Amino acid sequence: MAIDLASKIPLALENSINNLAKNVTLPAYLSEEKKADLTAQIKVLLKSLNAQMVAHYYVDADLQALTEETGGKVADSLEMANFGAQSSADILVVCGVKFMGETAKMLSPEKTILMPDIDATCSLDEGCPADEFQAFCQQYPGHKVVVYANTSVAVKAIADWVVTSGNALEIVTHLKEQGEKIIWGPDRHLGSWIQAETDIEMILWQGQCIVHDEFQVYELEALKAANPEAKVLVHPESPAEVVALADVVGSTRVMIESVQNMPDKSFIVATDNGIFWKMQQLAPQKKLIVAPTGGKDGHCISCAHCPWMAMNGLQNLHDCLENMTGQIKIEEPIRLKALESVNKMLDFSRQKGLIAKPMA
Ligand code: 13P
Ligand code: SF4
Repeated sequence: MAIDLASKIPLALENSINNLAKNVTLPAYLSEEKKADLTAQIKVLLKSLNAQMVAHYYVDADLQALTEETGGKVADSLEMANFGAQSSADILVVCGVKFMGETAKMLSPEKTILMPDIDATCSLDEGCPADEFQAFCQQYPGHKVVVYANTSVAVKAIADWVVTSGNALEIVTHLKEQGEKIIWGPDRHLGSWIQAETDIEMILWQGQCIVHDEFQVYELEALKAANPEAKVLVHPESPAEVVALADVVGSTRVMIESVQNMPDKSFIVATDNGIFWKMQQLAPQKKLIVAPTGGKDGHCISCAHCPWMAMNGLQNLHDCLENMTGQIKIEEPIRLKALESVNKMLDFSRQKGLIAKPMA
């Protein structure tokens, strides 16, 4: 049964998040020569510092390629957390957004966690202030608080469970089997999709991802009609009407596996277009079409590319390693509290085979 009591997040907060997104400082253009020079220097720094890169599918292709070349991991947020926790490096350089760096620090307090730009945030994190979320939760006693990984440490410390799009369905199904009722935050679209899939009672916080919220249903219908052979892959942070047009709904990992494993030759992809690098690497013969964000109701704040993921570049990656800048720090009491729900998620995911088990 769907219970959707909250209204949208306040307009002032939404406007300030949109302004933040529009005013990010993106890495400057680099010539091929400069890129090669920086890449060589980064490789030397990584080796001499016993540092390893962990990158999200949405960051710049050069960073994803360098991560793999140097023995790091390009992954979704769930596998990034898992890989970082198991890494024997002294330093992890997290190329992604801040909650990913914070999760790495929560799991490996002994490691130095660096980020090329520590201001790389996420609209879901920004749209869910911990004090307001706590007050919201207090209105509904007797519910389990389930939060998406795209949140601050303080919000995770309030939660009973942390989930990612790679395990949310399984974890919520598990809670349903236990007879629990759920408060869900912050992504309203992902929450609605899970609610529809599991038919569990859920109270939804009304946050949104500025990238996925922009996919346009009318224009997607037109694109589908123009490409009838293409399968439509949609990330569940997208609006329900867009999800309804999908052949496959799933996390970034599921979308990549679909391109790789489905027999179809072309795909319309409704998620951040940074994911195309990995899709093309694994399935070079497939045709990928970006789902529309512009059109009748489009405002294209992101144009299918997360502005905060785009803050990661070769120059600031180099600089954070050279100067030890962009370090993630978390106060110990809150780290320990938030860690409980993150560890619960990882243990559950390992048991269910959703991520690799720790090496013996
Ligand atoms: P994943 O958990 O699928 O990596 O997605 C994270 C994210 O930020 C999606 O927008
Ligand atoms: Fe956050 Fe959306 Fe960017 Fe993912 S794509 S980091 S959910 S703003």
